[in-house]
Amino acid sequence: MAEIVIVDNPEDGGELVARHIAAQIRARPEFTLGVATGSTPLPVYAALRRECDAGLDVSSVNAFALDEYVGLPDDHPESYRSVIRREVTEPLGLDPTRVHVPDGDEATIETAGERYEALLAANGGVDLQLLGIGTDGHVGFNEPGSSLASATRIKTLTAQTRADNARFFDSPEQVPTHCITQGIGTILRADHLVLLAFGDGKADAVAGAVEGPVTASVPGSCIQLHRHVTVVVDEPAASRL
Ligand code: GLP
Repeated sequence: MAEIVIVDNPEDGGELVARHIAAQIRARPEFTLGVATGSTPLPVYAALRRECDAGLDVSSVNAFALDEYVGLPDDHPESYRSVIRREVTEPLGLDPTRVHVPDGDEATIETAGERYEALLAANGGVDLQLLGIGTDGHVGFNEPGSSLASATRIKTLTAQTRADNARFFDSPEQVPTHCITQGIGTILRADHLVLLAFGDGKADAVAGAVEGPVTASVPGSCIQLHRHVTVVVDEPAASRL
């Protein structure tokens, strides 16, 4: 059973999670953080930045991102490589050589999943994985129907996710159609999963993930298969629990 923490607002959720991560990093400087994109984890990164400004040494921290679009140039502002650099690596002052994002280059996509799994394994895996959740219950880019045992691989984005993410692009057609994402099996290998969700738009997804049947139809329900899960939600996101 996941530990559910209900916070007053996203900022408080970010503080709580960042304090925990900071304590872990102090105890073990070579900590490996699994980072997620989307708006949900931003308060965690903001609070972690305050920890860094107050002297937290993150020079040996490793970071692995969950997913990436296929076919965007690396320097495209909405490639997850750019987003992670802008929102995590640079503000926190992480060593860029220790920050990894799946490679969405079309030319080498066939082997990109295998290469990312090998990199994760060589690093010894992820200590704490931050997760957001899509309105349809997806985690990373594991859309409904994703195998609960899946590894990092190429996936097709659903119409709903492309519509949800269209706000980051000039027009909906510019949202890539494919992505590469850590699989659910990959995510479940992290030592600790911290799933965050804020706002009533996430209430159904949170209820499905936490209390619904474990099913590929709601990829977030995979958290029920993990022994160490913390779910951090505000009241609106918790309203259907
Ligand atoms: C994208 C990301 C997910 C994220 C989701 C929710 O699809 N690939 O990792 O959880 O968006 O985004 P937001 O946190 O902005 O609601």
